[in-house]
Amino acid sequence: MARSALSALVAVASFSYVAGQATLSTFPATPIASLHFAYPSQVPYKVVPDQYARGTQFGYNICNSTTENQQSLCQTAFVNGIDDFCILAPSQPNSTIGDTEGEEVIWCTKKGHGGRLIPDGTITGIQVLRNTNYVQLFAFLNQANIDISPPDFGGELDPHGQDLLGNPIGGLLYSTAFSSDNKTIQQINEWNMFVGGNTSAIKVCNPAGPNPAGFCQHTLDRIGWQYNMPNSAVNGVFEVCDSDAMDIPGVYTVNGQTLSYSQPPESLGPISTLPYTARIPASSNCVTFQSSALYTDLASISAPTPTGTSSGSTPTASGKGTAGTGTGTRSSSASTASSTGKSNGAGTLTASLFSSIVGVAFSIAFIA
Ligand SMILES: *[C@@H]1O[C@H](CO)[C@@H](O)[C@H](O)[C@H]1NC(C)=O
Ligand SMILES: *[C@@H]1O[C@H](CO)[C@@H](O)[C@H](O)[C@H]1NC(C)=O
Ligand SMILES: *[C@@H]1O[C@H](CO)[C@@H](O)[C@H](O)[C@H]1NC(C)=O
Ligand SMILES: *[C@@H]1O[C@H](CO)[C@@H](O)[C@H](O)[C@H]1NC(C)=O
Repeated sequence: MARSALSALVAVASFSYVAGQATLSTFPATPIASLHFAYPSQVPYKVVPDQYARGTQFGYNICNSTTENQQSLCQTAFVNGIDDFCILAPSQPNSTIGDTEGEEVIWCTKKGHGGRLIPDGTITGIQVLRNTNYVQLFAFLNQANIDISPPDFGGELDPHGQDLLGNPIGGLLYSTAFSSDNKTIQQINEWNMFVGGNTSAIKVCNPAGPNPAGFCQHTLDRIGWQYNMPNSAVNGVFEVCDSDAMDIPGVYTVNGQTLSYSQPPESLGPISTLPYTARIPASSNCVTFQSSALYTDLASISAPTPTGTSSGSTPTASGKGTAGTGTGTRSSSASTASSTGKSNGAGTLTASLFSSIVGVAFSIAFIA
């Protein structure tokens, strides 16, 4: 959640301070996003062992074969590549992200991270865009399979949060994506993730890059992945591409002038218009895969019984000739990227914007 909510929440927190008998702090002495723990030797059982005004850490950070099951409450995520990443999602079926943002647990595509596994067939398409600044994943999902209420448009998670405890509280993230040998595990202190609307958009920023906090901007949570993680993902296609770096989220150019957008506070009401559209960065060298080749660890994990949703409609796949046709290369350019991006993303923007706002309002009510 963005800093723009901070003042409202500080007011809420001081109210509970006056009303309650305990003097619980709102903020940690050190923001969670500034803590460094070498993996695995320095990872504590809980990054946030104490109680704060918002609550305590829901799960734990030391995760291993004992905690690797479908009830796991592991909150140490990995985002390594197209075949090996974790989504942060609820621990109980039919939950909304807004109600559980402080409590999300890891759901992974591979064994070995000590968390839950994403049921087979949940991910129906994915695009990974990578460059030296960041690695970004955009996945199409059947979100009910990872305990998210089917109609939920979700929200944004990051290691900052309204009170610097992170969402989830105490969550950690690691990656091998920026190591030269593709094996060394590094902590990622700047990342964010949009989850909901049957999609998940994840960005992890290179700690050695020139501007990880900029590329992984976390203050634009109400304007969705469309502005924070523009992409040309197509449902049914599983691909990894090299990509130019996107514009820093919120920075845009009009008539040669570079301008910066700040998200208005919720008190000013819904965001109905934006002064720009985020550019989808040019991508190249796309390599496509079959999902069965990527997610071999998931074959034994079947989806839970559907949680009584009304319609029996299947997830909408925008029919693609190239889907699942095996490993190969697909050329891509900025212009084709834009047109496929529009056909996928634009239609959901209004709903997504609206629901983010509802989600934020909900979480404020929840915290209060
Ligand atoms: C495995 O993880 C659990 C839960 O965090 C922890 O209590 C236990 O000590 C860990 N086991 C090992 C061998 O590290
Ligand atoms: C690096 O490792 C990730 C995670 O296993 C994998 O997805 C990716 O293909 C690897 N990249 C290279 C260049 O080997
Ligand atoms: C997610 O997909 C399910 C199954 O198709 C559908 O019922 C639900 O409306 C979708 N949710 C959103 C937010 O689009
Ligand atoms: C899921 O949650 C919604 C909203 O709280 C509720 O209306 C619905 O009945 C729940 N579905 C199931 C199967 O529990």
